[in-house]
Amino acid sequence: KKTVLTGIKPTGQIHLGNYIGAIKPALDLAIRKEYQPAYFVADYHGLTKMQQPNDFRQLTYGIAAAWLALGLDPKRAIFYRQSDVPELFELNWILSCITTKGLMNRAHAYKALVDKNVNLMKDEDTGVNIGLFTYPVLMAADILMFKTEVVPVGKDQVQHVEIARDIAESFNNYYGETFHLPEYKIQEGTSVLPGLDGRKMSKSYNNTIPIFEEPKKLQQLINKIKTDSLPPEAPKDPDTSIIFTIYKEFATPVEVEKMREAYSIGISWGEAKRQLFIVMNRFLEGPRERYKELMAHPETIDNILKDGAMEAREISKPFLNEIKRKIGITV
Ligand code: TYM
Repeated sequence: KKTVLTGIKPTGQIHLGNYIGAIKPALDLAIRKEYQPAYFVADYHGLTKMQQPNDFRQLTYGIAAAWLALGLDPKRAIFYRQSDVPELFELNWILSCITTKGLMNRAHAYKALVDKNVNLMKDEDTGVNIGLFTYPVLMAADILMFKTEVVPVGKDQVQHVEIARDIAESFNNYYGETFHLPEYKIQEGTSVLPGLDGRKMSKSYNNTIPIFEEPKKLQQLINKIKTDSLPPEAPKDPDTSIIFTIYKEFATPVEVEKMREAYSIGISWGEAKRQLFIVMNRFLEGPRERYKELMAHPETIDNILKDGAMEAREISKPFLNEIKRKIGITV
């Protein structure tokens, strides 16, 4: 079976960008027979942004509960916490030693922070920890450890998957064929879902719609989505509307066609948002309840993640041994 793998870091609540850009496509692949899904909470990646320990722990449970509440079947998927698989961190070191600093200098998360510092006339490395700088190496370890074929992600992670390929190629060239070269998979049209202010929806911009908000709050957030100032009766282009883009993810094909027509005739943004809330809430009310239930029983989540880590380690332990033989650490 082909491994499909993706991770989410616990630096905030799961939002609509995570769901539409990564979780939904990952869940769609998870039910296909030809794939072995490996989905995880990238907690050690989350540590690159230091947080209060209790908040961090809760956010980690939150990511795990979200996957489960949205339908991930832990019997089919290998579902784990990154920090529970120590082999990843050994591989991280091995890969660090064949990764050039130049490759990391070009990684966009680091570059963006440096550019921001320069614009603010600060020292360019302000706020850059080494974990953040070498973030893509750990991500390469995540991906390469499980001989991953497909990595469903949003567009901001594409470069990281390409870096994982580069690192795999360097290793294979020097030590012989070892790692499989992964491919990324992004969703046409939703690989960069905009947030409330029109910029990319992101935990760091504070412009997200967390998907498990209570209905009232969810409606309020939807109402905050920025729209143009066309009058209610004016025809609108559904294909350039964020509201329509999100609507399509939750509505039935018939509803989508009807809504497309309504846009071309002229629908007020208020009404378009109301309809969006209806289909979103219809889909999310079940997962929201399951999410709350899981969050009230973190021990259930722990047990599931522990089992998943055991499965992951059945793969990572022998593979790491093989890698260590190849590089001359063991015989
Ligand atoms: P993270 O936690 O920032 O985001 C999780 C996933 O959500 C996607 N995403 C979006 N997609 C579309 N529109 C948006 N506005 C949007 N915002 C976020 C992200 O692209 C991502 O797919 N480095 C990863 C975690 C990670 C990982 C991995 C992923 C660690 N190891 C190995 C894949 C494979 C991250 O920070 O994701």
